Amino acid sequence: MLITNIKGLVGLHPKDKLVLRGAQLDHLPVLENAWILIEDGLIKDFGEMGSMPSQISNLPSPISAKGRYVFPSWCDSHTHIVFAASREEEFAMKIQGKTYEEIAAAGGGILNSANKLQKATEDELFESAAMRLKQMILQGTGAVEIKSGYGLTTESEIKMLRVIRRLKAHFSIPIKATFLAAHAFPAEFKNDHQGYINLIIEEMLPRIAEEKLADYIDAFCEKGFFSVEETDQILKAGAKYGLKPKIHANQLSVSGAIEVAVKNKAISVDHLEESDPETIETLRNADTIVTLLPSCSFYLGIPFADAKSFIKAGLPVALATDYNPGSTPSGNMNFVVSLGCIKMKMFPEQAINAATLNGAAAMELSNSHGSIAIGKNANLFITKPMPSIAYLPYSFGESQVDTVILNGEIYHG
Ligand code: NIG
Ligand code: FE
Repeated sequence: MLITNIKGLVGLHPKDKLVLRGAQLDHLPVLENAWILIEDGLIKDFGEMGSMPSQISNLPSPISAKGRYVFPSWCDSHTHIVFAASREEEFAMKIQGKTYEEIAAAGGGILNSANKLQKATEDELFESAAMRLKQMILQGTGAVEIKSGYGLTTESEIKMLRVIRRLKAHFSIPIKATFLAAHAFPAEFKNDHQGYINLIIEEMLPRIAEEKLADYIDAFCEKGFFSVEETDQILKAGAKYGLKPKIHANQLSVSGAIEVAVKNKAISVDHLEESDPETIETLRNADTIVTLLPSCSFYLGIPFADAKSFIKAGLPVALATDYNPGSTPSGNMNFVVSLGCIKMKMFPEQAINAATLNGAAAMELSNSHGSIAIGKNANLFITKPMPSIAYLPYSFGESQVDTVILNGEIYHG
């Protein structure tokens, strides 16, 4: 596939640049008036229109991208898209002013989703998750992480992870699976936390490892959910099976989650709507990626994470959707990038880098995805005609994604 007359080829980070920290996020390399050649699903070459070698300009049926930009696909490193039912009944409660914790206490929340998921079949879960993923891909997402965590029993956690395995086989984008049994305590373990943790460690983890169902391990380390000590136990048990942590941290309070995540060599800490100077100090000396989820703040009405301070401190910030039925019923990365700019005061270049290369890094995919470099995978999108790159986040609520290309082929959904 040859694409010519591209107004701007966006995100040309060199192949060995695996993550962008701090001020490196300010720089989004762009080649204007460009062509790109894709062969065997990979980016083969690119250059300026003015100096296109004749063996390339002679290739048949090039796609003209006049007035349009070509972006590397969004890399959405935090989602919960396997779920049985939406939760719009909680939407009205939220509008009445009930908090996330109050809704959970009233029988909503994660346990509500778990009840419904336990009753759903693997086929039903696969069908609905596949539909969500298809919509996300059509909105420009070309790599995704998906968590379990609405099962909360051995059978149902395994059922969710098998659904993710089926999604991996069915879709041609990279998908990473994260084991999140430590999402909430099931009602029967309300007063027996250690009982549930033992179930995770002694029963779930060995079976998941045996079937190779997970790439990562996660825990919702938060007041009323999993304590620092409980999280530590679970992460250490996961490490025995080679599962690296990606942690729900500081969503509702500064909980000590960051420290326990860094101590356990987490790939990423996600959320951080709440933070304090120690949070930043802990992260400064770590390789852990800071994944921010602004559409969760938008929907729940909780504070937006302090992206500017994290970037100023030299940290590697990524952006992701958190798509789930309770706190973020949307998988639209274009909107996430807009919110990053509008609500978290990231510059368009920073937000786009955070949603591409750093998102890929938060899934350990940045050697193959997340930027336009020779030899990388050709997961890209061509925009609608746009006056500038900043127009993409500026035109919030709209998708500027026109043509999606996965592994060098146009994706029609
Ligand atoms: O990332 N915080 C924990 N998990 C999800 C919400 C889960 C739910 O409410 O169903 C989140 O926001
Ligand atoms: Fe989440």
